[in-house]
Amino acid sequence: MQFLTILGSTGSIGVSTLDVVDRNPERFSIVALTARSRIDLLLEQCCKFRPRYAVVIETAHAERLQRQLRASGSETEVLCGIAALEKVAALPEVTTVMAAIVGIAGLRATLAAAHAGKRILLANKESLVTAGALFMSAVKTSGSVLLPIDSEHNAVFQAMPGKQSGSLKNNGVRRILLTASGGPFRTLSLAQMSLVTPEQAVAHPNWMMGRKISVDSATMMNKGLEVIEAHWLFDADPSVIEVIIHPQSVIHSMVEYCDGSVLAQLGNPDMRTPIAHALGHPSRISSGADFLDLAAIGTLQFERPDTARFPCLRLAYDALKTGAAAVIALNAANEVAVAEFLDHRIGFLDIPRLIETVVSAVPERTIATIEDVEAVDQLSRELTLSACAPRTSTITAGAGA
Ligand SMILES: NC(=O)c1ccc[n+]([C@@H]2O[C@H](COP(=O)([O-])OP(=O)(O)OC[C@H]3O[C@@H](n4cnc5c(N)ncnc54)[C@H](OP(=O)(O)O)[C@@H]3O)[C@@H](O)[C@H]2O)c1
Repeated sequence: MQFLTILGSTGSIGVSTLDVVDRNPERFSIVALTARSRIDLLLEQCCKFRPRYAVVIETAHAERLQRQLRASGSETEVLCGIAALEKVAALPEVTTVMAAIVGIAGLRATLAAAHAGKRILLANKESLVTAGALFMSAVKTSGSVLLPIDSEHNAVFQAMPGKQSGSLKNNGVRRILLTASGGPFRTLSLAQMSLVTPEQAVAHPNWMMGRKISVDSATMMNKGLEVIEAHWLFDADPSVIEVIIHPQSVIHSMVEYCDGSVLAQLGNPDMRTPIAHALGHPSRISSGADFLDLAAIGTLQFERPDTARFPCLRLAYDALKTGAAAVIALNAANEVAVAEFLDHRIGFLDIPRLIETVVSAVPERTIATIEDVEAVDQLSRELTLSACAPRTSTITAGAGA
């Protein structure tokens, strides 16, 4: 039996995780669920899965949820704030933490799980992107088991040699090939992309995801963040991590070996597959995802990414080469720019423009603690907001948004 904390249980990954748990009730027991704004959904989840704790961020939400839970006869205790997220990620009775908060907001709790030696199912890629060295060192020191949830990294994990020791090269690995759908704007020109709306950006052709990662997929920053994530997860030099566009999202990623073999993991685009893989590992458990019908799909296409139209991918590789502060700045600027875009305050093509401006303005420095990460994150957020400000009125007026 695994005892689970699900950080971000009300999000797309959180809901899919509970669906897999529900299909395998003999294997999992829920200790804690957490949310930020979708309190009604959290209430429903608490009534169904009866966790010991529910965590929210705001006091008013906590008070309301506790009242509603008591009224429905639930014994779930409601906790509040970031320290409470850290607490439920590190509880002694918890064996497994699904890290599915979106953005750097998940960093402290995910890191707490790593320090506490938990089995971590990592969806919250921004934790690893922004604090890779700290995070991997905590995992090694505590003996945590880290299992990737991102479908690409989960695929790479499955295609890697079973028992690895030493470098990728020593294990015969030549390249990691991360597949990318190309997002909803794969075939658009820059002129067309300058006019796209948030509603169009979040309508991903293959995957149902939260709003932030959907926009990241549309700009291809998601793939950039995944390159950085793969660098940390697999101890891979950026030069051996390649991105290939594969619009059908059937091959989730590949590992190429020195003998010319390429191992791929395939499946329908349904996050319950990597979630079930990581929840069950090393056993296989049912996920609820449809089985693949390759004859019905017929054709699998591949093409090279175009970094002129999707500069975020290049910006991510560049930041990884530059250093830890550049990567934190890249992530922070992206989080702020995506939120501004979703709120119709900037245009789609302003996202890479702002990121480039902010990354080049943030000085490189040593990142030795979580406070160092948060200081660079904060500075970068302020720089992004001030870089958006003058442009906001032009775009609103120009685009009629
Ligand atoms: N969705 C996918 O298919 C997918 C695939 C691969 C990787 N990922 C990664 O998984 C993570 C989650 O993605 P998602 O699509 O599930 O996002 P999502 O649907 O937006 O859900 C995010 C979750 O985090 C909570 N949350 C948001 N801001 C928070 C804050 N400041 N403090 C505490 N909790 C907060 C949300 O609570 P409320 O909903 O209650 O506000 C929700 O439970 C991201 O890092 C993403 O890159 C997602």
